[in-house]
Amino acid sequence: MCGIVGYVGQRPAVDVLVRGLRRLEYRGYDSAGVAYFRGAAIEIQKSEGKLENVETLLSKLPAISDARCGIGHTRWATHGKPTTQNAHPHRTGHVVLVHNGIIENYQEIKQDLVKRGHRPVSETDSELFGFLVLEKMDAGRSLAVAVSESFREVTGACSVVVMSEKEPGTVIGVRNGSPLVAAVDPKGGVILASDAQPLLEYTRDVVFLEHGDMVVGDSRGIRFLSLQTGEPIQRATSTLDWSPAALDKQGYDHYMLKEIHEQPAAMVDTLNGLLDRASAESFPLAGQPAVELLKNAKRITIVACGTAWHASLMGKYWLEKWGQIPVSVELASEYRYRDPVVDAGTLVIGVSQSGETADTLAVIQELRKKGIPTLAVTNTRGSTLSREAQATVFTNAGPEIGVAATKTFSVQMLTLLCFAAFLGKQRGKTAEMDQIFAQLIRIPHLLGDYLDEKGTLRKAVRETARKLLLLKGFFFIGRGYCFPLALEAALKLKEIAYVHAEGYAAGELKHGPIAMIDQDIAVIVLAPNDAWREKTFSNLEEVKARGAQVLGVGNPSDESLQRVSHFWIPLPETGLHESLLPFVVTPVIQLLSYEIAVLKGTDIDKPRNLAKSVTVE
Ligand code: F6R
Repeated sequence: MCGIVGYVGQRPAVDVLVRGLRRLEYRGYDSAGVAYFRGAAIEIQKSEGKLENVETLLSKLPAISDARCGIGHTRWATHGKPTTQNAHPHRTGHVVLVHNGIIENYQEIKQDLVKRGHRPVSETDSELFGFLVLEKMDAGRSLAVAVSESFREVTGACSVVVMSEKEPGTVIGVRNGSPLVAAVDPKGGVILASDAQPLLEYTRDVVFLEHGDMVVGDSRGIRFLSLQTGEPIQRATSTLDWSPAALDKQGYDHYMLKEIHEQPAAMVDTLNGLLDRASAESFPLAGQPAVELLKNAKRITIVACGTAWHASLMGKYWLEKWGQIPVSVELASEYRYRDPVVDAGTLVIGVSQSGETADTLAVIQELRKKGIPTLAVTNTRGSTLSREAQATVFTNAGPEIGVAATKTFSVQMLTLLCFAAFLGKQRGKTAEMDQIFAQLIRIPHLLGDYLDEKGTLRKAVRETARKLLLLKGFFFIGRGYCFPLALEAALKLKEIAYVHAEGYAAGELKHGPIAMIDQDIAVIVLAPNDAWREKTFSNLEEVKARGAQVLGVGNPSDESLQRVSHFWIPLPETGLHESLLPFVVTPVIQLLSYEIAVLKGTDIDKPRNLAKSVTVE
């Protein structure tokens, strides 16, 4: 989830860039950098690690306050390790750029560039784009034309902001997938960023670029061009009317909505904390206290409540598949009053966002006293669970204010997936795990684009919610990875919209609940392209034959699913391994509950009868 800032104008550019990058820090990153014009030459300061490292470099330089044009970046590594060399901005001759997103055909582009005598110095896909621009400018094209022609050669959703020493004082941005926002600085100038936060310090009037838009900022002001034709285009300005409270919510109407949108960043931050990103290996949990506990475990029991229990159920699928270890997932409130058979070969993992849930805590405390290995997975530093368990792995979702757990669900799943993949590597599944790792680190980018406010997902969900609203009950069904998601979807809908909802393993319907199906019931079928899709499809036909209103959630190219469903929400076309699809289905189920709750006018962030932290049994 890279962050981008670009500026040209009357203010000290480096100051604008660094302040902007600070506002984008919430997105999660592992290196940072800025580039700015000093006279007609561009200088770059960048570093692995935090933005402070870049500020330290800048503090040693004379007269950078004179710079009036520059670009800045926070990078979340996808192609290549989080090193200074791979950090942005990247220089290619006189061209300097920052990039957010993924160039999918980077391998082909790299081979061609190398054949033509170029020598990329980083491991990134981003740097390659600079070579494409350089070649075209050296053949006589302007920066704007060179950038738009270069886009014809790349596939994948991404944004770039580019400068060239051949055109000092010009900043060009392109949105071709990943979001980009532009604004006129009232003091004279143009500012660009990957979201509106850095702009708000200067103005509330901003332009959200559409896919395929190019923005040019220079001494003449701001211009928008079509990437395709190069022709000028008009773009409407939106005035962000954010009250101080809304600023807390970053413009979202509710914390829950904000937190749904924060999932990509929460995933980035959790991976940064969990894995050694500088290692060439995939899933290196080295340095994590969990390592020894996981390595020594013969069996795993996970205890949790509510949403955390659903994340744990998902974890069971991955742990058994890759880690080849027996796993049981227990409701803490039941487990603590049973007489479970547990011995020192069993690792007991307590999963809890708050780290204060009384039942989960009680299990961990009791078993630790009995000498059973215990591990906490929690989002809250200093929580009782983290102090009571033998070791703790922290998820880094940041504060979750909405009572309904959303982003913490995703990072709990993510953490358990990393445990499973770590064990998978221990058991020799190196190639498979490398493949999963390469895909996993792309998910925050993919999700960021899928969740984009102006995207089709929100619209599709909102329209569907309106149509389903008056039905008397909701059944979410799924198989495999979509079974825990069906449970979670029903829980979300119950807790924030106060409507009756059930989550079922799709194959279970005919063992009883199908008797309830009629035309007043919505059945939401979670059926992405995975090993279970055909079976789930048959279950869809069974409920449709009984009159249910069917909402299909599936792969965008799944025409048969779309055809038989009354309502349809397509997942993004990601090409992800089926085991990673839960991360893209999750926002759909969360947003569906959210939109139904909005229509019902409930108190979404503080649903009745519920507390964020359940410290009583
Ligand atoms: C549902 C929800 C609850 C919690 C449950 C456990 O949206 O938030 O079901 O998941 O109370 O809470 P933690 O994770 O704090 O142990």
